[in-house]
Amino acid sequence: MTPVVVVVDDHSVRHQVHLRSSAPALAARPAAYDLHMTTDTASAPAPAPLPLLVLGQGTDLHTERGVECPGDLPAPSDPDLVERARAAKAALGERVFVLGHHYQRDEVIEFADVTGDSFKLARDAAARPDAPYIVFCGVHFMAESADILTSDDQTVILPDLAAGCSMADMAAIAQVEDCWEQLAAAGVAEQTIPVTYMNSSAAIKAFTGRHGGTICTSSNARTALDWAFEQVGGVDGDGKVLFLPDQHLGRNTAVRELGLSLDDCVVWDPHRPNGGLTSEQLAGARMILWRGHCSVHGRFSVDAVEAARREIPGVKVIVHPECQYEVVERADEVGSTEKIIQTIAAAPAGTSWVVGTELNLVRRLAQQFPEQRIAFLEKNVCYCSTMNRIDLPHLVWALESLVEGRVVNPIHVDPTVAAEARAALDRMLALPGTTHKD
Ligand code: 13P
Ligand code: SF4
Repeated sequence: MTPVVVVVDDHSVRHQVHLRSSAPALAARPAAYDLHMTTDTASAPAPAPLPLLVLGQGTDLHTERGVECPGDLPAPSDPDLVERARAAKAALGERVFVLGHHYQRDEVIEFADVTGDSFKLARDAAARPDAPYIVFCGVHFMAESADILTSDDQTVILPDLAAGCSMADMAAIAQVEDCWEQLAAAGVAEQTIPVTYMNSSAAIKAFTGRHGGTICTSSNARTALDWAFEQVGGVDGDGKVLFLPDQHLGRNTAVRELGLSLDDCVVWDPHRPNGGLTSEQLAGARMILWRGHCSVHGRFSVDAVEAARREIPGVKVIVHPECQYEVVERADEVGSTEKIIQTIAAAPAGTSWVVGTELNLVRRLAQQFPEQRIAFLEKNVCYCSTMNRIDLPHLVWALESLVEGRVVNPIHVDPTVAAEARAALDRMLALPGTTHKD
């Protein structure tokens, strides 16, 4: 098969992917690490001709949320966009608070009042009760959490409603309710407590609140699991955690940080009867991991870590805990986006780093810390396409609409769902000895 070169152009119209036919020289190129942060990716299989989601057909308006923007969405090529964003933000003054997740594009981060990982942004959103408008430059579950944590007088806006999260979409509330019923039928629900990763819908956070569980993020997963096991008899007892929806974060934290074994973990597959597990497997498990993963971090491979070690003398490998267990085991450091930044910032000049997390952040690290040598871990991994949906045209559109007195793309979580989800989020925010260090 003819290899293709996939170039992801940061300034293209919404994560558009250009395919170019292969050049023999590139096809033959060894998998060397590019310390200058090119984004070329050599890959063997040609992509399917159909896009994953056929947008703009009007066949499924729920799926196509965010496709239609009432009003004028500025063209990405508009040379005045930066000036327009500045002017709109200045006109709104203290009435708007812009939050930016570390995976956002540079053009968006430039206008963020604060940046952070999902834990920090949840706290920051809650800490600005005076701002009537919170513009959340991140993904849907983060904006929902901000809506839950802010007052009824505040409105959270997601500049593009199509900015979702593939991992969050791997757990639907009906599947989770069904799983719980089956755990009850197997006689294990009573000794099980749910711990749900922030990357989940508000409905699943509400489920977690109803069943006495907590939310966690990648920066406090260990603390959250410690707390959860204490509720069901301690980490050395027989109690269980149902961990949703990222199997990798759950496994990495339980095995590497709490001392459980891989055999203590089972994977609940929502697409198979009884999760694909026998009653004996369920009875013997300590961690019931939902079969979900991040479509970006799940692609970092052991081969890439080994190649980095071969090719870059003295390199340190740092990865996000959404990566697979085998990858995390071979890394030198693991942590949330905030921790990755702090670790590289604190490292002595001249250190070489290979980073396994989203490409916007890795590129920014390479620019911000030129005294370090920073490379992206895996050439076959692209940007997080949903994070990239938020771009300068959508940000300008959201801000200018506010200036004109129109609120576009507000995120409103149903009040009953919000109250139950808030119980789980409050438990997270009250966790003792948080591992977050800001
Ligand atoms: P952080 O909480 O580390 O920012 O991660 C969020 C996320 O979506 C990672 O893929
Ligand atoms: Fe979701 Fe992965 Fe994107 Fe994070 S990087 S928002 S987990 S798809």
